[in-house]
Amino acid sequence: MNASAANIGVVGLAVMGSNLARNLASREGNTVAVYNRSREKTDALVAEHPEAGFIPSFSYEEFAASLTTPRTAIIMVKAGRGTDAVIDELVKVFEPGDIIVDGGNAYFPDTIRREKAVRETGINFVGAGISGGEEGALNGPSIMPGGSDESWVTLGPILTSIAAVAEGEPCVTHIGHNGAGHFVKMVHNGIEYADMQLIAEAYDLIRRGTGKTPAEIADIFTDWNGGELESYLIEITAEVLRQIDAETGKPLVDVILDQAGAKGTGAWTVQTALSLGVPVSGIAEATFARSLSSHPEQRRVAAALPGPDSTFEVDDVDAFVEDVRQALFASKIIAYSQGFDEIRAGAEEYDWSIDLGAVAKIWRAGCIIRAQFLNRIADAYAEEPGLPVLATAPYFADSIARGQGAWRRVVVAAAQAGIPAPAFSSSLAYYDGIRADRLPAALVQGQRDFFGAHTYKRIDKPGTFHTDWSGDRTESEAEDTH
Ligand SMILES: NC(=O)c1ccc[n+]([C@@H]2O[C@H](COP(=O)([O-])OP(=O)(O)OC[C@H]3O[C@@H](n4cnc5c(N)ncnc54)[C@H](OP(=O)(O)O)[C@@H]3O)[C@@H](O)[C@H]2O)c1
Repeated sequence: MNASAANIGVVGLAVMGSNLARNLASREGNTVAVYNRSREKTDALVAEHPEAGFIPSFSYEEFAASLTTPRTAIIMVKAGRGTDAVIDELVKVFEPGDIIVDGGNAYFPDTIRREKAVRETGINFVGAGISGGEEGALNGPSIMPGGSDESWVTLGPILTSIAAVAEGEPCVTHIGHNGAGHFVKMVHNGIEYADMQLIAEAYDLIRRGTGKTPAEIADIFTDWNGGELESYLIEITAEVLRQIDAETGKPLVDVILDQAGAKGTGAWTVQTALSLGVPVSGIAEATFARSLSSHPEQRRVAAALPGPDSTFEVDDVDAFVEDVRQALFASKIIAYSQGFDEIRAGAEEYDWSIDLGAVAKIWRAGCIIRAQFLNRIADAYAEEPGLPVLATAPYFADSIARGQGAWRRVVVAAAQAGIPAPAFSSSLAYYDGIRADRLPAALVQGQRDFFGAHTYKRIDKPGTFHTDWSGDRTESEAEDTH
């Protein structure tokens, strides 16, 4: 048995867990206990990293004994049944007051369920979203922990020690109770889907509209990265576009199969948004665009369908590229505005107190959507914490006002050219919808009342009304049957 010497433990030593364990071990004051279901990974990690001073264990009992109290362990195993299996074992060997952290990509309702069950044993359970992949886990991720206030007292300093740092501030904050951390991580991934799709649409429009090569477009993205679009995703887009395939000598992007994969977090974000009644159309279109791309059998049969008669040719290339840049920025504002709207609605539904500005700040480093732009979001919420629509904050509203002409031209050009730009165009439709003085929803209410007596409200007096459509078409006061 190991003497109790470690202040933190990691269970699950595949790529993410081993990198996180090394990150923890490299920080002053941490001694790290490690455990993996199969012994080989533990042996390999300890042998390859003697500098880390890991305390290895080969049973859960030994692992628990190697930790000082309150025992704190981060689980980094395959999300789903693997997480439940590890929790079941840890609960047997931990004591009330100890802390179990799930750092995997759990679906937040699972985290709510697990937190409730584990709490009954007196042990704290914290679902923590950890972003940044392998590299982030090793050098500093953005961390989104949920769980109780009590667990944050012990866990806060440990997570702060390993988090990425943006402008001197650690990219970690206690998001809220139970599943709040995994909820916010889910929306982070949804926003990531939208951001990536928007960048891909910008690339496609420039390529097909101007005939520029991927390498030339890479230069455009590098240039954009010096301005308001500055972000990790724009930076890596330039890298990918510049890459030449060693085997064929062609741009790598031209030899990669055009079928985008997904691990499900985009779909979770959209499904949750549907339940909450929040229109995250940019994220939804990005998720559906991946689905559409991944049905080669449908694309094969549909390839014969006609497109527009004329070919797409841009007269003023520089002006078009600038239009696309502005359209990308405006659409990006909408995607983030929608994502933050989902977090706001989730917090309301699940009774979490989430500081939206703090969320923007912890995404500034260590995660995939890291960007300068997030400072502007933090500023907007600092100015007005209850801001109902992020896109209406002065900085964003001004940016859209400047770019909306370009945005509209690009969406029109895409439609006329037959180039799919679902995220660009749905973002614009959302923008026009949310700012509309009057929506055709009034007609929808009329239709609903006609076929289902679903009733409607009037603009000129209080109450709920129904028209006797199948009778004499007179209106009467009715019970609200929404
Ligand atoms: N945030 C990010 O950017 C990011 C990136 C990648 C992954 N992740 C998340 O991080 C977590 C770990 O990912 P990963 O890629 O390192 O590993 P992984 O491939 O998802 O899972 C492998 C690990 O899980 C363990 N495991 C699986 N089932 C188990 C069970 N029933 N009982 C005990 N252990 C079990 C395996 O142990 P054995 O060695 O014994 O098989 C191994 O250590 C996942 O939740 C993943 O979704 C996050």
